[in-house]
Amino acid sequence: MTVLSSQNDIRILITETEIAARTTQLARLISDEYKDTKQLVVVGLLRGSFVFIADLVRRIDLPVEVDFMTVSSYGNAMESSRQVRIIQDLMTPIEGRDVLIVEDIVDTGHTLSQVYDILQTREPASLRVCALLNKPSRREIDVVIDWVGFDIPDEFVIGYGIDYAQQGRNLPHIGVVSK
Ligand code: IMP
Ligand code: MG
Repeated sequence: MTVLSSQNDIRILITETEIAARTTQLARLISDEYKDTKQLVVVGLLRGSFVFIADLVRRIDLPVEVDFMTVSSYGNAMESSRQVRIIQDLMTPIEGRDVLIVEDIVDTGHTLSQVYDILQTREPASLRVCALLNKPSRREIDVVIDWVGFDIPDEFVIGYGIDYAQQGRNLPHIGVVSK
């Protein structure tokens, strides 16, 4: 299915250079925050965070373990389903570990809020969140995001791992899709 008929459907919102610079800054802040941690566990939420997490962890100057979790989300629609289901769980036991959740976008907040609560029941030593993008105007539920890459307006974005109907993940920048 082709939903993005041409490049004309996409307007660049955040360039590759801007993403790289911000990712470097975030990695410095994170490295500093966890400098006394023996081995940080970075938990990426698939699939949207896979590009960001790859760039982020390579700039984190600490021993890190990386694991992934898949939770149900939008499917092919532009509306959130609100109820999150674990499709693929972590391989790593996180009890007593310092855990950093890495998310692509926090929109209504439902996904992050539910993932946070699920992981918290496993009693990690600490649980924090880094999100590349944040849409504050869309929030329906309060969530704490410890590190945010960029606050963005209420627009549907793709690129840098983020998709619309499974397309656009390979774009190097973040762009807005015109509906
Ligand atoms: P929330 O549960 O409403 O906060 O939605 C979070 C998830 O919805 C994100 O992790 C994304 O996977 C997806 N999402 C939210 N906004 C966008 C968007 O603009 N483009 C693509 N996916 C989005
Ligand atoms: Mg996501």
